[in-house]
Amino acid sequence: MSCKGKNSQAEFSFNVFLIAILVLSGSCVNFAHAQSDTAEPAFIGGMSCGTSTCHGARVESSYGNILRNEFNTWYEQDPHSQSYAALTSPLGDQIGKNLGIEPTNDSKCISCHTTPTQQYEVMDGFTRSEGVSCEGCHGPASLWLKAHTVPDSSVDLVKLGMFPTADPQNRGKLCLSCHLGGEGDQLITHKMMAAGHPRLVFELATFSQIQPAHYRADADYRARKPRTEEIRVWATGQIMASQQFLRLASEHISMDDSLFPELTFYECHTCHHSVDTVRWQTRKTNPLGPGRVRINDSALLISIALLKVMNSESAILISDLVSKLHKDSLNNKDELTSTMNKMNQELSLALGQINDFEFSPNQVAKILREISNAGMGGEYSDFSSAEQAVMAASVLVNNLYRSGNTELLPKNIDDELDDFYKTLENEDDFRPRRLQTKMRKLKGSMD
Ligand code: HEC
Ligand code: HEC
Ligand code: HEC
Ligand code: HEC
Repeated sequence: MSCKGKNSQAEFSFNVFLIAILVLSGSCVNFAHAQSDTAEPAFIGGMSCGTSTCHGARVESSYGNILRNEFNTWYEQDPHSQSYAALTSPLGDQIGKNLGIEPTNDSKCISCHTTPTQQYEVMDGFTRSEGVSCEGCHGPASLWLKAHTVPDSSVDLVKLGMFPTADPQNRGKLCLSCHLGGEGDQLITHKMMAAGHPRLVFELATFSQIQPAHYRADADYRARKPRTEEIRVWATGQIMASQQFLRLASEHISMDDSLFPELTFYECHTCHHSVDTVRWQTRKTNPLGPGRVRINDSALLISIALLKVMNSESAILISDLVSKLHKDSLNNKDELTSTMNKMNQELSLALGQINDFEFSPNQVAKILREISNAGMGGEYSDFSSAEQAVMAASVLVNNLYRSGNTELLPKNIDDELDDFYKTLENEDDFRPRRLQTKMRKLKGSMD
């Protein structure tokens, strides 16, 4: 029961071949280690999930409440199955060379590009080369593999190690750990980005939507998993991204022996854009004058728009604290950390309220109005904030569409969303005023 040092693509292909054999044997849970009675959960490897009678069917199943072809969807379409391969791609190779590390064997890379296994043991069937596979999101399966194939509501699968991926807060924690940063080595520093790693962009609802779907949120699903609507996932994701950012930043933003702060927590485009175009403009939540590097406050700014509708006092408080955050970032490390902690506490209260909040169509329209209001006021003048505002607007508009409340939306909203996305097309040539004008138009048509 040990982690094999070298996991190769060849080994992975061999395992895929193994599935074919298991398909013939026909049994769903026939791995010896599936019956393990270890007290602690352990990782058994995604291959155990991929037999044809389990999740490895070629086509969607017409019976039961799951699709059964989840494995193929993941293997053929989901980037998570390629996340280990990314480490050996030309770009992965280049990043490794620039940093002087071997990506497939360095926790700075495999902590996010493979199923994270720090917490529990791995068994022989597990191979790192699967990338982020079923257990990377659904949790180590040794103890629940057998139990989850038998409908028995008295068994608590979560206690056996299954991760509650449907629950918005747990999903937020899961996805953000890799898509923003998490524990230990789950962090992309500016050095890694300068070595070639792409900038991370994430929004929980949007990314849940674009991950190739291996489940269908139909009526049956919604009945089994209440309070997991997309809009609740979105709101939860905003608050949690703000919190996770503050937590990571307060831990890593200033290294004691260094003159320079960790730049990964700053708005990249305050430094990275042509000096020929002047982007700077005043904004309410930024008391710093021109020519200052700014902490990335994109998730916080969207959270403020959400809170204006959910809890207006909290919105005012967070808004004041964002201004304070920027001021403190120039002056005082202790004050900065204390401001970050204060914001985090306030956001915890807000997070606690989301589960009970009713996102009625009118409330959703109000949040959209707050986004457009802040947008026309120039709040989203940084590229990262603009990106988040545009993703937020799309989620909110889609929510009203799907719930059949189009009367709350302007008639030409599709064109307006297209226009929003167009302002983000070239990050080197982003013009904040263009987005501001489009936001003003949206606000006008919603009043
Ligand atoms: C263990 C780390 C990890 C976890 C957990 C994780 N991801 Fe990912 N995700 C990655 C990596 C690494 C990639 C990049 C893979 C590649 O392109 O090779 C990725 C890629 C993606 C992409 C494709 C992005 C693009 O630009 O095309 C989407 C969408 C995505 N993840 C959504 C999610 C969602 C939603 C969750 C939570 C349910 C999640 N991820 C959880 C590591 C993770
Ligand atoms: C905090 C988690 C995390 C860490 C640590 C991390 N990555 Fe990534 N990496 C990601 C995510 C998430 C993406 C996908 C970005 C997106 O498209 O949104 C990604 C994308 C990539 C890509 C581009 C993949 C593609 O399909 O275009 C490469 C290459 C890559 N990472 C290599 C590395 C290397 C090498 C290391 C170690 C030096 C590393 N990564 C460390 C999370 C991480
Ligand atoms: C990047 C994260 C991620 C990976 C990797 C992943 N899943 Fe999922 N899966 C989810 C999320 C999120 C949901 C939707 C929330 C839920 O219902 O739990 C889901 C839903 C499901 C469902 C539907 C559950 C239900 O009750 O309807 C099944 C079945 C499933 N996944 C199986 C798999 C299998 C098998 C694999 C590997 C081949 C896999 N998943 C890989 C994140 C992931
Ligand atoms: C305080 C200013 C500052 C901030 C903020 C900043 N960077 Fe940098 N970045 C630099 C400097 C300085 C260099 C080194 C340039 C050189 O070596 O020519 C650099 C280099 C880079 C490079 C390599 C460019 C090259 O041509 O070699 C990339 C990529 C990069 N940064 C990405 C980012 C990303 C992504 C962010 C946001 C998460 C970010 N930077 C935030 C100042 C900054």
